[in-house]
Amino acid sequence: MEHVPVLLAESLEFLDIRPEGRYVDFTTGLGGHTRGIASNLTTGCVLALDRDGESLEQARENTKGLHDRIIFRQAAFSQLDEAIRSEGWDLVDGMISDLGVSKVQLTSPERGFSLMNPGPVDMRMDRKAEITAADIISRSSEQELVRLFMEFGEERRIPSQNAARAIRARPIRDTRHLAEVVASAVPRFGKLHPATRIFQALRMAVNDEPAELDALLKHAPEHLKPGGRWVVIAFHSGEDRKVKNAFRELGRAGVAKVLTKHVVRPGPEETRRNPPSRSAVLRALEMGSGGSDNNMDELDSKEDAA
Ligand SMILES: C[S@@+](CC[C@H](N)C(=O)[O-])C[C@H]1O[C@@H](n2cnc3c(N)ncnc32)[C@H](O)[C@@H]1O
Repeated sequence: MEHVPVLLAESLEFLDIRPEGRYVDFTTGLGGHTRGIASNLTTGCVLALDRDGESLEQARENTKGLHDRIIFRQAAFSQLDEAIRSEGWDLVDGMISDLGVSKVQLTSPERGFSLMNPGPVDMRMDRKAEITAADIISRSSEQELVRLFMEFGEERRIPSQNAARAIRARPIRDTRHLAEVVASAVPRFGKLHPATRIFQALRMAVNDEPAELDALLKHAPEHLKPGGRWVVIAFHSGEDRKVKNAFRELGRAGVAKVLTKHVVRPGPEETRRNPPSRSAVLRALEMGSGGSDNNMDELDSKEDAA
């Protein structure tokens, strides 16, 4: 079945693709947004980045026929300067970041993201990375796990304490066992599986997601041309808050104009077709005509002065 990316039509509308332009997809995943951008190019090109080499392989498959307009490269957000410069690029016409995990990561038990299907307690987006979720569990004290679940998982204190105690009390065999151990210690609250927030917290820690997002929000806009557009899609409130604040700062400093006064969410038809899209929130901005360089300097000095 063809992979349908979240908020594709809306993303393309905000990007307002120039057929000869240069674009960066920081989160290529299965290549849905990359394909959408590349299909609108003539002599232009998309630099398709992702830290997950296996997702990039899938993206290559899913974008057959468009490879003359796509460059695939494995890179994390924290390596974006190097990735863009290594192509001899500096400023680009548009960028997209569709944060979170890809379908291939979530649905392959061996990647260790799945609550339902047993797999190793892994959760690395880049399988060459050293630390797995099992390492974090075995190396952290109960108190450290509680803090992790509260901060990254946005879980409340008592369920975090109960989950941490239950996890530390026995060896965890696989992801389904982990989900069951958490479920036995934490009551179900609403529709969400009780281990959802615990899995999210572990995944964020394994992949250093908060620091990676900070690097993206700081350095990506430095690569936008005057008039260049950036679309960011977030799936949980902590990430979206960071995006909102970063965009607001750029807007206040006169560096960029925020195009989404109100966030854009999937409509009922999209959430019916693709239920996980229901938590997606899209924000977009346009770099001011002063260009990125001058105004980014101005923003730095304003921050220094604050
Ligand atoms: C929601 S998926 C993107 C789906 C994609 N837009 C599509 O249409 O198939 C998010 C992707 O971002 C990647 N990712 C997450 N954090 C990253 C980071 N810090 N650096 C690079 N890629 C990252 C994940 O590996 C995943 O493939």
